[in-house]
Amino acid sequence: QSPKYTARAHTNIALIKYWGKLDQDLIIPMNSSLSLTLDKFYTDTSVFFDSTLKQDIFRLNNKESSSLKVTHFMKVLREKTGETRFAMINSENHVPSAAGLASSASAFAALALAASRAAGLVLDSRSLSRLARRGSGSATRSIYGGFVEWQQGSDDATSYAVPFEENVAWDLSMIAVVISAKQKKISSSVGMQRVVATSPYYSAWRKTAAQDLAAMKKAIKKRDFRQVGTIAEENAMKMHALNASAHPHFSYFEPASLQVMKIVADLRSNGIFCYYTLDAGPNVKIICQNKDIQTILAALAPSFSQERLVVAGPGPGVKLIDKP
Ligand code: DP6
Repeated sequence: QSPKYTARAHTNIALIKYWGKLDQDLIIPMNSSLSLTLDKFYTDTSVFFDSTLKQDIFRLNNKESSSLKVTHFMKVLREKTGETRFAMINSENHVPSAAGLASSASAFAALALAASRAAGLVLDSRSLSRLARRGSGSATRSIYGGFVEWQQGSDDATSYAVPFEENVAWDLSMIAVVISAKQKKISSSVGMQRVVATSPYYSAWRKTAAQDLAAMKKAIKKRDFRQVGTIAEENAMKMHALNASAHPHFSYFEPASLQVMKIVADLRSNGIFCYYTLDAGPNVKIICQNKDIQTILAALAPSFSQERLVVAGPGPGVKLIDKP
């Protein structure tokens, strides 16, 4: 048996979205992206290798599970590290609500750190980011805390995340509105593949995403909250417009998602500056300033129960929480 390592990684929400792969197996994205790592949602994963195991065993929240993505990731890890044994993997998602926001970002960032250490490898953050990328694109960014940029690169060696601002000393929060905890109808992987293959607007997306990223970095540096929110919201809507223009077209929005978007727009016309972003599912994340949290929660309260509203702030990068 190898020693057991446990790592904790937090999820991240993209302000400039990753949507499309250049290389499916290596997970090289079509565009660079930028995210904020959050404090409230994280995954703890412990790993040890055991020569008596006939296959990897993956337990999620204390239940034996099977995940093709985890199996594939462990295969990649063994190739990289030379480890030949199978692993016992224990993962726990910490999501302070009825779930629905557990993400592959925190999962593969935590697994990359715990599994590489258990295999005897001490990787620097860049290599760890490249390794996490092989599990899920968004995991590339969860290696770091705060604002993180995933530089698309062009191959395995050049596609990794870099911290943009690790310690976010800024009055900024996200309110996650949990609309559905159900499995997404169309996985992000399938959704983005269809969009790249069929949306007539895909080349325009790549161009606009690069412009949005540059503008976003400037706005963060200037601490221009309204600019950050506007760019993030518009970038998200452009991503969802790709889905609406794919063949066959699809959408992640549910009626309640639109309801939240309208509440946010109404707040804004009343001088409460807040903005929304959505990923490959119906949940809405509202970007806001701390002084407005209570007003926004009050506006949502008639339609959404308290346990569906989770307020999160900037969170830290991946770390070991237990080692031999
Ligand atoms: C909409 O990282 O889940 O959240 O690389 O196929 O695992 P795979 O996709 P995933 O996609 C995330 C897409 C997104 C935008 C983002 O996080 O940048």
